[in-house]
Amino acid sequence: MKKNISQRIWLVGASQGIGLELVKIWLGQGHRVIASARHTESSADLVMLKQRYGEQLQCLNIDVADAQGCAEQAEQAWSIFDGLDIWFYNVGTYHPMTAAQWNLSDFLKMNQTNYLGVVALILPLQQHFNTQGHGRWVWNASLASYFGLPYGGGYSAPKAALVNLAQALQPELAEQNIQLQIINHGFVRTRLTEKNAFAMPGLLEPEQAAQQIAKALDHSTAFEICFPWHLRMVLSLLRFMPYSWSLALTRKMLRT
Ligand SMILES: NC(=O)c1ccc[n+]([C@@H]2O[C@H](COP(=O)([O-])OP(=O)(O)OC[C@H]3O[C@@H](n4cnc5c(N)ncnc54)[C@H](OP(=O)(O)O)[C@@H]3O)[C@@H](O)[C@H]2O)c1
Repeated sequence: MKKNISQRIWLVGASQGIGLELVKIWLGQGHRVIASARHTESSADLVMLKQRYGEQLQCLNIDVADAQGCAEQAEQAWSIFDGLDIWFYNVGTYHPMTAAQWNLSDFLKMNQTNYLGVVALILPLQQHFNTQGHGRWVWNASLASYFGLPYGGGYSAPKAALVNLAQALQPELAEQNIQLQIINHGFVRTRLTEKNAFAMPGLLEPEQAAQQIAKALDHSTAFEICFPWHLRMVLSLLRFMPYSWSLALTRKMLRT
């Protein structure tokens, strides 16, 4: 991010977890932040931050499952600070499920939050960013997008779609001076990972993950920001080895 220049940031998915920690970091650095989630007024942390930072923080409710509402809130977000420098999409939900107990409603929710919410926001935002002539879009995906793992497919499939969409859009957006970046990180202790009963290698606290993300965005314009490197390496190996090997390995992850 540009040093010593206050950026106008719209962070969608900001009420808790990694998003909330990013809000704290960016406010501390002097940036102007629009923090969005479904009910920002219910986040005691956001309410406290608002009291402390005043106009520098604006809270804007949005439900990314509501496409019409997304279009309206995108207009609102654009007008609050008269434009945006960064749109950071951080919304995500996770419901592990077995194939035998497939839950369509949870699967649809994960598609809405992990993928289609971005799609609903692209159109209204793109027109504004184009007219403005510059901007940065950052989408928080996941290392889970690298390879589908048992019970996690409902989460990782829309994340993989998000990454694929980003790959497809990046060249066109770059031509319009809009820089698109994705973040693929590993396990972070939030309400999402509370649902995991297994050991999570490289588990980070949300503050640590947010610090790594903010630092990476300060220094890197690379398309992909990812950490931790060892989990990335393991999942990359799964992605590139023959399926006969990778699927034999993931079969061993099944609960007996
Ligand atoms: N935790 C991990 O291990 C991990 C690993 C890799 C990637 N990620 C990704 O990192 C991002 C943040 O995850 P987190 O772990 O910090 O989760 P979190 O604590 O549950 O935060 C998710 C945020 O999304 C918001 N949100 C959820 N549904 C929404 C909806 N329909 N409309 C608007 N906002 C909604 C939540 O706000 P409300 O519920 O208040 O609306 C909350 O602010 C997600 O994209 C996640 O997939 C997480």
